Amino acid sequence: MRSFLFPLLLLLALTSAAQQVDPYHYSSRKYMEAKRFAVSSAHPLASGAGAQIMREGGNAVDAAIAVQLALAVVYPQAGNLGGGGFMVARMADGRSVTIDYREKAPGRSHRDMYLDSAGNPVTARSLEGHLAAGVPGTVAGLVASQAYGRLPLSKLIAPAIVLAEKGFAITEQEAHGLNRLRDMFIRLNTQPNAFVKDTPWKTGDTLIQQDLANTLRRIAKKGGKGFYSGETARLVAAEMRRGGGIITETDMAAYKAVVRQPLEFMFRGYTVITMPLPSSGGIGLQQMLGMVEDFPLEKTGFHSPEAVQRMIEAERRAYADRAEYLGDPDFVKVPVAQLTDKKYLQERIADYVAGKPSPSKSIKAGGPFESTETTHLSVVDAEGNAVSVTTTLNGSYGSKVVVGGAGFLLNNEMDDFSVKPGAPNLYGLIGTEANAIAPGKRMLSCMTPTIVLKNGKPYMVTGTPGGSTIITSLFQTLVNDIVFGMDAKSNVNAPKFHHQWWPEDVRIEKEFPAATKAALEKMGYPVKVGSPWSRTELIRIVDGKIEAVGDWRGDDSVAGE
Ligand code: DON
Repeated sequence: MRSFLFPLLLLLALTSAAQQVDPYHYSSRKYMEAKRFAVSSAHPLASGAGAQIMREGGNAVDAAIAVQLALAVVYPQAGNLGGGGFMVARMADGRSVTIDYREKAPGRSHRDMYLDSAGNPVTARSLEGHLAAGVPGTVAGLVASQAYGRLPLSKLIAPAIVLAEKGFAITEQEAHGLNRLRDMFIRLNTQPNAFVKDTPWKTGDTLIQQDLANTLRRIAKKGGKGFYSGETARLVAAEMRRGGGIITETDMAAYKAVVRQPLEFMFRGYTVITMPLPSSGGIGLQQMLGMVEDFPLEKTGFHSPEAVQRMIEAERRAYADRAEYLGDPDFVKVPVAQLTDKKYLQERIADYVAGKPSPSKSIKAGGPFESTETTHLSVVDAEGNAVSVTTTLNGSYGSKVVVGGAGFLLNNEMDDFSVKPGAPNLYGLIGTEANAIAPGKRMLSCMTPTIVLKNGKPYMVTGTPGGSTIITSLFQTLVNDIVFGMDAKSNVNAPKFHHQWWPEDVRIEKEFPAATKAALEKMGYPVKVGSPWSRTELIRIVDGKIEAVGDWRGDDSVAGE
């Protein structure tokens, strides 16, 4: 028996090693059809780590945890330990769950902390450096997610430790990002870090992150305690003291991830399972879809001026409601049922005039009722579990502050609060009291990890980064599939348009049809061409066949078998 087993195990080990991605030589794979499981994420090495975990017996949640940990190493722009995120999962046994690991305002934060003596917002303070960081939630979220996985954290974290310790070849986009922000990394940090070197970064250079590897080892050994107390928490507090930030060891020890009931609704016979507050994404998505559900989009055609105009007007109204009502549900009472009520949404769009914009100043929030860097990953496994995760540091490389001795970047998520009513944030979003800063409060987010069921089974697992554009990208991804019957690859790669009530313009990607742009302009819409935004990761399951797509816009890559 033993003589038979040994060669078999050796063969399995060798096959499995051969399937692992070489961290010094790899490339993006944008599309695949898989039979058993698939991952789509922002980086080939992270997707590879997730696929490997499923090969070794992990489920989709285990894989999603391993992908996030790997992204924290290989995709420092957005992958993170020092940020936060949301997980939406649909388990094969029919349970749906979301985990909220959004950052929180530190205990010493206060409402007007980003205003100068004249009461004007000082944007640099909420966006750059130590004061911009909220208390990180990611590690707590990963540990909480483990309730739905089966492998030990030490196994899930192993690929990330190797990548941090032995290094990996950086992509062209990463080299560009690190070079572009070199001066900020120097100006905003109190100690040397792995992202700054004497000569410019080149594609293929090896990035080694020893401090980060040590932090990952502490997490592997002690779980959440390896991050929120002891050495890591001490290093965070010391970094704050050196750099003038306010996160304390007490803030770190107090952080908890929250399991929340998903937002679930129907759209044209499909069940949409998505993120509730403190994401504005789920509510926004439900509002936008609700405002186009009865409109004959398919008759007018994909990217026709009529269809696009109707969708823009739905977006305008949803963002007006967002600004007025939405905030952390643990702090403010939000009239979610009213805002998402089918009849309310029909009435909300009733003043829409075909061929004519509704100026934003004429569109106030409904009621009254009583009462730029992020990353997404999608995973499905062979057992029928589906996981959708969006996670972020907020801006590219967050606050640019690397925790001295701990090697991870801190977020600049505090800017997602409304620092002053009506003052736009990094994404031009405005808000009011509902999203004002308060100690322990979570800042409102747009992140919208989403799972769509068809006949009760996972059909689409999707999401994207992109700040305020996240919700409108998701809106288009769902409409493109469900209404226009588009194939998965064309859907992800289709040019996007975006409107958010304020500012008034409609943003389009440069590949957006010129004739529709001209038609919208003729109607009176101010249209601006923007550089590509969003990086949609889509997994679709059609008749048992898994299709995985990585967005052309980044290093995004799929893996599976
Ligand atoms: O939570 C939010 O809505 C933002 N902090 C997300 C930032 C983002 O997507 C940046 N990506 N390009």
